[in-house]
Parts: sequence; structure tokens; C-alpha cells
Amino acid sequence: MSAPPGGPPLLAFEGITGGYGTTVVVRDVSGSVEPGEVLCVLGRNGVGKSTLMRLLSGHLSCRAGAIRLVGEDVTRLSASRRSKRGLSYGPQERVVFDNLSVADNLRLRAGGRGVGGSGTDERLDVYFEAFPVLGKRLRQHAGTLSGGERKILSFVRCLAEEQPLVLLDEPTEGVQFENIERMHAFIATARAAGTAFVIVEQHVAFALSIADRLLVMDQGHTVLQATAAEVDRERLLGYLQV
Ligand SMILES: Nc1ncnc2c1ncn2[C@@H]1O[C@H](COP(=O)(O)OP(=O)(O)O)[C@@H](O)[C@H]1O
Ligand SMILES: [Mg+2]
Repeated sequence: MSAPPGGPPLLAFEGITGGYGTTVVVRDVSGSVEPGEVLCVLGRNGVGKSTLMRLLSGHLSCRAGAIRLVGEDVTRLSASRRSKRGLSYGPQERVVFDNLSVADNLRLRAGGRGVGGSGTDERLDVYFEAFPVLGKRLRQHAGTLSGGERKILSFVRCLAEEQPLVLLDEPTEGVQFENIERMHAFIATARAAGTAFVIVEQHVAFALSIADRLLVMDQGHTVLQATAAEVDRERLLGYLQV
């Protein structure tokens, strides 16, 4: 998947509607991301952000609307087929396989090569330097990591897939401040190299510092869409206060 300049966006979604059983949770949400752009999705708890991410990644089927990757309609494709077309997804919960080792979790990434054991993947070294807890605990079950460490492992797996589009659902939840800063740096580097991101984020400061575009949801709807530079902060905060 690559997007020629002037062509269709890397990711475009239009009128996305979906939910669970007969309950519609996300209604008529639209947006797009170009290569090298970060779209942050914001909103209070329970407004449908994670559901939107499941709909975009293919873990939940859309009831209406369309999702296109570089102009190609992927709305009816499974999550694994969307992954093969260049999309990585780090969910908010159950982010890693607890019963597998840290190394095996990393090995399972799309296009993953060996980590430790049968030859190491030197592309992971930069992550192990930034997050030594992972490098030191490659043989341990991921379930022995703290919640924040598991989020870091999931984050590293997603970035190491080196896909053109990365969806991250609250990647910084439970992560220590210094590691949030390192995540920020990795996202900035990947973005500069052309990777596009859709990131659900609770920390407004983090979102504003990394986002090119913002999409704010309330009760399953889009209530605000703006570039990070032009956003009306008072209005934004108004939608996030409980
Ligand atoms: N697996 C599920 N089955 C049924 N309802 C769900 C499920 N996941 C989330 N919901 C409901 O969908 C709504 C939106 O949830 P979610 O997308 O997780 O919101 P957010 O990520 O913004 O906190 C909530 O009312 C939640 O209870
Ligand atoms: Mg959520």
C-alpha cells in the first residue's frame, strides 16, 4: 500500500456506523489520513472511540459506511486482510498474548522475523534500547509485565510491523511519563518517514503535541473535526470534561 501524491488518501472512512448486536454505538463518523499524518481521536469514556477503531481495523463489521485504503474499498475485508494491505492495530485492552513470551509476542507481528533464539531482528534493537524492560524480559511471559509494560510491548509490535498505517487505541494508558515521551519520539520519527497514524488518546496535551488532525466524538457522533493548529481549545476541553 502506498499513496501517490494527489491520489486518494491513505485511509478514508465515510459515514461509519456500527456497534454490538442491535445497539448502534458509532454513527456516521467520517475522516481521512494522509501519509505522514497523525489523526487523534478524542472523547470522554464510553463515547465509542474504541468501537470506531474496531470498525476501522476490521475487528467489528460496519453496519453502514465505507472504508478505503488508498482508494480501495476494504469495508468488507477481515482484520487479517486489512493487515495484509498495510494496517497495524494496537487495541486498548488485551493488547498482548499473556501466555506467550515477550519475544514470541514480537515474533507474531505481521512480517515478523525471529527475535532471540533463531536469529535476532536487529530492527528491534532501537526499541529495546528505549524500553530496556522488553529486551531484558524476552523469555518471560508477557503476562508477567505490568499493564503499562504490556502497552509498550503492543506499541513496539505495531511500529515494528513497519506498515504504512498504524491504529493505536490509548497507547499511553498506564505508561510511565518517561516512556510516554519515548513513544512520542517513535511516533514522530515514523511520521516523518511517512507512516500515518490514527491514535485514540486521553491525554489532551499528548494529542495536541502529536496530532495533525483531531476528531472529537460524543455519544458515537463526531462533534468536532479540526487541525491541531486551528482547534478551538476551549471547545475541545468542553467535550472532554466529565
Ligand atoms: N464488546 C462490547 N459489547 C457490547 N457493548 C460494548 C462493547 N464494547 C463497548 N461497548 C459499549 O459501547 C459503548 C462505547 O464503548 P467504547 O467504544 O469502548 O468507548 P470508548 O473507547 O470511547 O471509551 C459503551 O456504551 C460500551 O459499553
Ligand atoms: Mg476505549
